[in-house]
Amino acid sequence: RRVCLIDTDPGTDDAIALWLALASPELDLRLVTVAGGNVGLERTLPNARAILGLARSGVPVVAGADRPLLGAFTPETRVHGADGLGGVILPEGPPSAPGIAADAIRDLLRREESVTLIGIGPATNFALALATEPALADRVEEIVLMTGAWAEGNITPSAEFNAWSDPESLGVLLASGRPVTLATLELTAQALVTPARIATLRARGGGVCLDAAARIMEGVPTSRRFDHRGHPLHDPCAVAWLLAPGLFTSRPVHVHVDCGHGPSRGRTVVDRWERTGQAPNARLLETLDAEGFFALLGERLAALP
Ligand code: BDR
Ligand code: CA
Repeated sequence: RRVCLIDTDPGTDDAIALWLALASPELDLRLVTVAGGNVGLERTLPNARAILGLARSGVPVVAGADRPLLGAFTPETRVHGADGLGGVILPEGPPSAPGIAADAIRDLLRREESVTLIGIGPATNFALALATEPALADRVEEIVLMTGAWAEGNITPSAEFNAWSDPESLGVLLASGRPVTLATLELTAQALVTPARIATLRARGGGVCLDAAARIMEGVPTSRRFDHRGHPLHDPCAVAWLLAPGLFTSRPVHVHVDCGHGPSRGRTVVDRWERTGQAPNARLLETLDAEGFFALLGERLAALP
């Protein structure tokens, strides 16, 4: 079992990623840290507590950054709604643990020989933890991120939302020297939630978590980019990589994140064709077996309370 922690900004797809991780025996989830992202920290923190509470998980939830390293916080309410969960109301969860995310992350890295960092929001909390005690990076087995895009963005024409929210922090992770795995928009576009897939999920039965996951999926607007056939389930792709790598193909690439202040801020420049001559600093997840992915997701969600 991999010791891991998830840094998140729930977030509709974050909720489903958290439930997938909690339901999966391959992962020993020790900590959930929260940042402002899809909506402000004042919403993402209670959302995270409620998501874990619904699964009757005792994993500690710790509050982190309410803004990026530099610049101002900007939410993304078009996809996730003003409350971050698309209007799906969950019972209030247990209180969060004391302290702040960067300290909790460093404490876990000091205690454990090998920890996998799963990042499904802006990268601020991970960057703060590693930048303030770089030697702890040796304890990081892998950093798996839902972030970036090698073609088009979603929040701007150039940039994917998580990368755009805090490109400086993403740069810290890419320069950490630890193995970084990226689930970009091109990968998550293959995990399209359609009405048929929601119906298949519901048909499994399951408990309150599966029902809430289905309601959350139903509440996310379909995307013009996909001719309104559905919407991509971004964040669970990062978790699924750790559960079933055989569902993916991947290749090593060099990635540069644009930290300029022009129209390409937050763009991940992915050297897929080895034009820069720079050594790879990441593994790009390229293809996903979508049927296998949704079957795994359904099987795992059905096992939760
Ligand atoms: C990413 O941004 C958020 O909207 C989602 O939760 C996901 O982490 C997709 O660009
Ligand atoms: Ca997210």
